[in-house]
Amino acid sequence: MRLAVLTSGGDCPGLNAVIRAVVRTASNEFGDTVVGYEDGWVGLLEDRRRDLYDDASIDRILLRGGTILGTGRLHPDKFKAGLEQIKTNMREAEVDALVAIGGEGTLKGAKWLNDNGIPVVGVPKTIDNDVNATDYTFGFDTAVSVATDAIDRLHTTAESHNRILIVEVMGRHVGWIALHAGMAGGAHYTVIPEEPFDIAEITKAMERRFQMGEKYGIICVAEGALPKEGTMEFEAGGVDQFGHQTFNGIGQVIGDEINKRTGYDVRTTVLGHIQRGGTPTAYDRVLATRYGVHAARAAHNGDSGMCVALHGEDIELVPLEEAVGTLKTVPDARYRNAQALFG
Ligand code: F6P
Repeated sequence: MRLAVLTSGGDCPGLNAVIRAVVRTASNEFGDTVVGYEDGWVGLLEDRRRDLYDDASIDRILLRGGTILGTGRLHPDKFKAGLEQIKTNMREAEVDALVAIGGEGTLKGAKWLNDNGIPVVGVPKTIDNDVNATDYTFGFDTAVSVATDAIDRLHTTAESHNRILIVEVMGRHVGWIALHAGMAGGAHYTVIPEEPFDIAEITKAMERRFQMGEKYGIICVAEGALPKEGTMEFEAGGVDQFGHQTFNGIGQVIGDEINKRTGYDVRTTVLGHIQRGGTPTAYDRVLATRYGVHAARAAHNGDSGMCVALHGEDIELVPLEEAVGTLKTVPDARYRNAQALFG
């Protein structure tokens, strides 16, 4: 058999670990060959591909961030219009099944291809951890580690200067990174998209700290956070050409407002793509590798239309439609746990 693999959407640490595991498992267990498409769906449509051999070079990519195949985004209309071309390309490359590694958007595309006659197995990735039907996506642990390290560092400088320091982390629609990094880093307030914030409450929490003699504060803010209606002026961002939410710097806006209300010295750090780059943590390497092993087996065994998923300790297969139905948001109870530590 011949399998294909591609990485699509925003990159994240662990993509190469999946690619390596797919190639090695396909070769070791089944004697299958693997071809890699470049730049996600775009390369599949334009037939840009290369053979991936089970050799030393593939073995060494385990710890490398990013993706050796490159990644990209393709507008859904262009993607759908390219179905026949994609079928032709895959037939000519003698590919029997495709392993698509990506977030919610990519998995939606994978489901659509599978529904239209191309056998696809999905692998969920994203630093945001917002893919439904799996406990964790790889990339998330690395992003949380990077953000936690940043918060650790901000504590000492904030304390030295009696400042409020705001750290804005990624999280378009969900606050998993903010929730975990805020908790791990001991932030004094965490703001997530699922729970619109009241600036008066954040300010009160900071004032209380100063009154008690702890004359500094760390606030962890997810980029997609929004104020409660009627509490503060804020112009939310729009959408980009792919329909993805864009942002207007909510961390800076919160900082400016706290400064205006209290006079405290406030600074904002936006972590941005630092969270997505670099070497994956051991946890992400293991999760990504396990996903890759199971995805290669599923593709070989004809389990198309399925997605690998972590349930407790086990990797299982779930229908792609379960993975793309809704986003996995932070449950109310988890945010309440974080709130117990605010101030
Ligand atoms: O989907 C993951 C994510 O990291 C989001 O949290 C973030 O808003 C987005 O990607 C940014 O992606 P890009 O800069 O590649 O458009």
